[in-house]
Amino acid sequence: MANMSKTTRILKHKNLFNDVFKRQYSDFVRGKATAAANLKEPVLFHGEPSGPSVVTPIPGPRSTKLINELETIQNTGAVQFFVDYDHCLGNYLFDADGNVLLDMFTQIATIPIGYSHPRLMAALRKPENIASFVNRPALGCLPPSNWVNKLKDVLLAVAPPGLTNVQTMQCGACSIEHSQKAIFMWYQRHRRGGRPPNEEELRSCITNEKPGTPEICVMSFHKAFHGRTMGALALTHTKWVHKLDFPQPNWPIAPFPALQYPLDEFVRENREEEDRCLNTVRELFEKWRLKGNPVAGIAVEPVQCEGGDNHATPYFFQGLQDIAKENDAALLIDEVQTGCGSTGKFWAHEHFNLREAPDLVPFAKKMMTGGFYFKKDFKPTEEEEGV
Ligand SMILES: Cc1ncc(COP(=O)(O)O)c(C=O)c1O
Repeated sequence: MANMSKTTRILKHKNLFNDVFKRQYSDFVRGKATAAANLKEPVLFHGEPSGPSVVTPIPGPRSTKLINELETIQNTGAVQFFVDYDHCLGNYLFDADGNVLLDMFTQIATIPIGYSHPRLMAALRKPENIASFVNRPALGCLPPSNWVNKLKDVLLAVAPPGLTNVQTMQCGACSIEHSQKAIFMWYQRHRRGGRPPNEEELRSCITNEKPGTPEICVMSFHKAFHGRTMGALALTHTKWVHKLDFPQPNWPIAPFPALQYPLDEFVRENREEEDRCLNTVRELFEKWRLKGNPVAGIAVEPVQCEGGDNHATPYFFQGLQDIAKENDAALLIDEVQTGCGSTGKFWAHEHFNLREAPDLVPFAKKMMTGGFYFKKDFKPTEEEEGV
């Protein structure tokens, strides 16, 4: 590995895009790039190319040079190539070497309606939006006067059915972290039975000690991905590269169902598998309660995306909601990757016919902002004394 050139190492680096790029690169090698560029397929997005066109190896010479330069400043392990975003249009991504690539993955599931969509470009040019970017309002303390209407007309207009509140955030991971905090505050508020926190709690939390810093936890699933900041990482269990060397809490991790396909041929086996996972969730609640570290909430993705495209049936998610309720715990459904229409419904969990809305639904990526929807019981009641 140490002797490998940077380019070889990057080409070996596996990620979501690799298969597509390999195919496009081998087309190039076989001299098919020009043919692909001339495809006379109907154009889906006004002005976009009619097909991909690959004219250099990927990464090409310009990207490779930039990668090497960037490596002197920061780690480039995940960089595939550089992009000319001012040229990207519709379904097509233009790299720094003039290659035109059909982006099958909408970046990392983050582009809702194609590159450089004219209506999004026009929205960003509006003076009021420019003023927001330039002046970076501290939304929690000094929101702009049109903020309430914006929340109502935009984010709440597409809220998951049954969820009436929303809090905006910057990215997916911080949406997860703040949802976790909302769960913990809600849980402790109920435990205190409505009394305000006492002096000892207020003092001890400053130095991370009990009782102000309680031993409570969130249950997650094997192969789950909820982000890479420290709190979200506690719920993430995919690759060692995200986890190695970081101190993390010892919180319960349940198995996520491994369904067999085709589903209609494995109905009995899959039901048994989902029951096995649900029973483990129940057992973990009990085990952590006995340890004096009760589970305040369950975090689950509607589809495990990064973890390998793992699905479960509505029966499983309904069961999870029942178990959370039996244990006075919250159910968080992480829609950072699945939200905003990618599964045929606006929110993937709408496929599950849950008896009621999940308690919290974090979002980001295609929503073009981070945040989380929540039931009003999860609204913090504590207020800062001055800022
Ligand atoms: C399900 C899920 N949750 C959380 C995150 C973290 O989002 P971000 O990368 O915006 O921090 C991701 C990112 O891929 C995700 O897929």
